[in-house]
Amino acid sequence: MDCFRIIGNGPLQGVVEINGAKNAVLPLIACGLLTDQELFLENVPLLGDVHCMIQLVRSLGMEVTRADHSLTLKTPSVTNFVASYDYVRKMRASVLVLGALLGRCGKATVSLPGGCAIGPRPVDLHIQGLEAFGVHIDLVNGYIVAHAPGGRVLGGKYTFPKVSVGGTENLLLAAVLAKGESCIENAAQEPEVSDLIECLCKMGAEIEGKGTSTLHIQGKDFLNGTRHYVLPDRLEMGTYIAAALATKGELVLKGCNGELMASYKPVLDQMGVLLREVQPSVFHIKSPGSWPGFHIQTQPFPGFPTDLQAQFMVLALFANSASSIEENLFENRFMHVAELNRMGANITVEGKTAFIPGQAHLIGAPVMATDLRASVSLVLAALAASGETIVRRVYHLDRGYEDLVGKLSRCGAQIERLTQEPGQTAPLAHQGV
Ligand code: UD1
Repeated sequence: MDCFRIIGNGPLQGVVEINGAKNAVLPLIACGLLTDQELFLENVPLLGDVHCMIQLVRSLGMEVTRADHSLTLKTPSVTNFVASYDYVRKMRASVLVLGALLGRCGKATVSLPGGCAIGPRPVDLHIQGLEAFGVHIDLVNGYIVAHAPGGRVLGGKYTFPKVSVGGTENLLLAAVLAKGESCIENAAQEPEVSDLIECLCKMGAEIEGKGTSTLHIQGKDFLNGTRHYVLPDRLEMGTYIAAALATKGELVLKGCNGELMASYKPVLDQMGVLLREVQPSVFHIKSPGSWPGFHIQTQPFPGFPTDLQAQFMVLALFANSASSIEENLFENRFMHVAELNRMGANITVEGKTAFIPGQAHLIGAPVMATDLRASVSLVLAALAASGETIVRRVYHLDRGYEDLVGKLSRCGAQIERLTQEPGQTAPLAHQGV
């Protein structure tokens, strides 16, 4: 199993290209099931999760042509209505084909995702919402077996008791081709949901309320193809900002959108971080060298994103004073704490709050990646630590960060990917330094 060897070697300095957003492109690929015309996606990141989604939609009858950072999607007809456990267990976002298949064909069978490293992550709200839109659902042998009587989703009203990004996306994908009108209340307002709405509207969907918590959808008889540029990844931006700060370095981030930083910019402001847009979509970030502790509570957008919690915990480690981070979205999202503590962090967790004393001096150690964002926080900590860190199970990082080793090493990081863990007998193969 591949791992990273990282030797903390001081400030990062250089230019990083930000890719399209993973969490936007996955539902956009599902959109390709809604029409028999061509959907052309640009700014598509090269990620494990994208590859996984492509395999899934191909199994349903979609023709997918890849070229560099673009995808041409065409589904002349849906040839299979079953998303098997093999796909869904690898990637939760596979469940998004449920809404799209129901929209296009009025039927779908999709495996229940089950748990994952950061908690149980149920899909009960996706199911309740679809039922409110007139879909009949049975749970059979671990599968969601769904059909719309009469072959078409009726539409209806659903109020999410708790904000769900994937739930909102699934309902949108089902509602755009419904027979009647739909209303989604307490909808997720994440920019990736707005990007999906933008693409659906270009395909001919009628959706009002983009970027708000109430969405009105007028169902259409068919949708057309279109061309769509995937919005930049605000979580990748936040991760490289954290990398610059943790190493006391200076980075230029290209392909950004300043508005997408709104949910974490207030914390950067409190820390005294200098972040300037030097040209349209190009940002310069310089570490202030030292900063005060801060208090974060993760919340749905526009609150602080749970997907940046682990990276900001690394920044809290190097603050002058104590910090706290409250995780309100997922139950088990402090898996990185034990690993950071092995590097000398002294973080304590009480319930859903982590207390970080600050003024840490981290020392490299062998650590284990547990999920995508936890893994990247270990990489950041390793870059800022003294000595060598081995990060194991880096396949998590391949799911969500394009060319992490290349991007960091071009900014001076001493990081390499090993196809054999140190200590094993076979010779090492590596990429990048
Ligand atoms: C998406 C993101 C993920 C991010 C998360 C929260 C994608 C591909 N993934 O995940 O990176 O961390 O939003 O911003 O976009 N819940 C239920 N029942 C449901 C659905 C959700 O109880 O039917 C709960 C979840 O367990 C969690 C909370 O609602 O506690 C939010 O989950 P949700 O917004 O649905 O996350 P995902 O869409 O899975």
